[in-house]
Amino acid sequence: MSQVLRDARRYEEEKEKLIKAEDRPAFHLSARVGWMNDPNGFSCYDGQYHMFYQYHPYDSHWGPMHWGHAVSEDLIHWSYLPAAMAPDRPYDRDGCYSGSAITLEDGRQMLMYTGRTLIIDEDGVEQEVQTQNLAFGDGDNYVKYARNPVITGKDLPEGGNPYAFRDPMVWTEEDGTFRAVLANQDVHHGGQILLYRSEDGVHWSFVKPLIKDDHKLGQMWECPAFFELDGKYVLLASAQDMLPSGLEYHNGNGTFCMIGSYNRETCDFKPERDHAIDYGIDFYAPQTILTPDGRRVMIGWMQNWDTCNLHTKSTPWFGQMSIPRELSVVNGRLYQKPVRELEALRTEPVRYRDVLVEDGEVTLADVSGRLIDLELEVEPVEGKEIYRKFAMRFAQNETFHTGVSFRPYESTVKIDRKFSGSRRAIIHQRRAEVSHDSGRLKLRLILDRFSAEIFVNDGEKVLTATIYTDAAADGISFVCSGAAKINVTKYTLKEM
Ligand code: FRU
Repeated sequence: MSQVLRDARRYEEEKEKLIKAEDRPAFHLSARVGWMNDPNGFSCYDGQYHMFYQYHPYDSHWGPMHWGHAVSEDLIHWSYLPAAMAPDRPYDRDGCYSGSAITLEDGRQMLMYTGRTLIIDEDGVEQEVQTQNLAFGDGDNYVKYARNPVITGKDLPEGGNPYAFRDPMVWTEEDGTFRAVLANQDVHHGGQILLYRSEDGVHWSFVKPLIKDDHKLGQMWECPAFFELDGKYVLLASAQDMLPSGLEYHNGNGTFCMIGSYNRETCDFKPERDHAIDYGIDFYAPQTILTPDGRRVMIGWMQNWDTCNLHTKSTPWFGQMSIPRELSVVNGRLYQKPVRELEALRTEPVRYRDVLVEDGEVTLADVSGRLIDLELEVEPVEGKEIYRKFAMRFAQNETFHTGVSFRPYESTVKIDRKFSGSRRAIIHQRRAEVSHDSGRLKLRLILDRFSAEIFVNDGEKVLTATIYTDAAADGISFVCSGAAKINVTKYTLKEM
């Protein structure tokens, strides 16, 4: 093991002890210490779920990337393992960037990731050379392949940019051969996803672009994921510098999915539809796994590149993962539901039926808390006009609240965290268009200490935002302009 990795492991073990459990999310994975961004190598290996992540242990801000590591039996309770990789080789000395993991026939786990080295190009400009590399391990310790890198700029098609070439997602085909998709920037066209093939996992050749963009979705794509789901093929990717279009793609750097068909023989992917994955503020770079019982589960980095540098240097940890989400394709859209294992944390159910909320604010006994799973159904009152606006406020006291509101005449849902405790001129609100039957809408709120995830209509749309609100703000209220009837089921989620 290199000294760089040994130092990181010693450091994280020591510093983790200084962070109190109540200063972390209760049921979302956060950085063991220091900084976390993308999920990496999300996989099932040797009977456990593994999550690696982009990691800078020494600082709560981005820096030379290591791979942090955690394991879980149920996708909810995570235990930290020692950091898996450090930037300690000539080809990754400036960072071990994002990548993925698979299990080999001989039982080893193979990690494929991007190595970053900074160089000065012939015009005197600093550039990042990005190459693809391998490491092999047993679930605890990983040894980098002696002949790294295995894919370099020489393996790019014409017009491919070697300085923006990263984040391999690798998988095995039924015949035992390997495929990988990689994000790249075509110097003329913006983002593209390139398909590579290998017989043995270590010798790789370029097949074709899986898809090229024409500046429609940003300027560069990152972190591709490609898989079959419900008879369709789905490509997830995260785009940099997107322009908004209607209520889609408002996040600057945001995630999108493309849903379509794929011919495994000719490797032709034909997208039929694209849309944002999350309509809130904080969600990026998701990865997925197929669970042993056949569910496609996605986890994203619950942050946003534009707002992730506002915290002070002394913050002991920064960066969390979203709740794992079960995916399905319904009517050509990607639906997301909190992974069912979360339900095991539910305690103290409180139920209300047919509560009238009319031109004012209603609170309900025992409907409060900061670690909660809350289901809400809202509908108009018979014989009255459809209400104009309905809102639920949470993480609330006299000073603070975050809200989700629904305007049936506009068919939009909005998340709003401007009173969540933020003191900065950053984005606090975002809207999504939603479907509803004359004012009938379903919401599910998953609230942890530092985040809110709102699932609309059983996962048709999701809005995610981090909130750094005082823990004492634990109120919940329902507000209506006009008259609405609500059903509420609220559970306290027990601490792990
Ligand atoms: C996405 C990303 C990846 C890269 C990593 C670096 O958030 O920019 O493309 O591998 O983060 O930390």
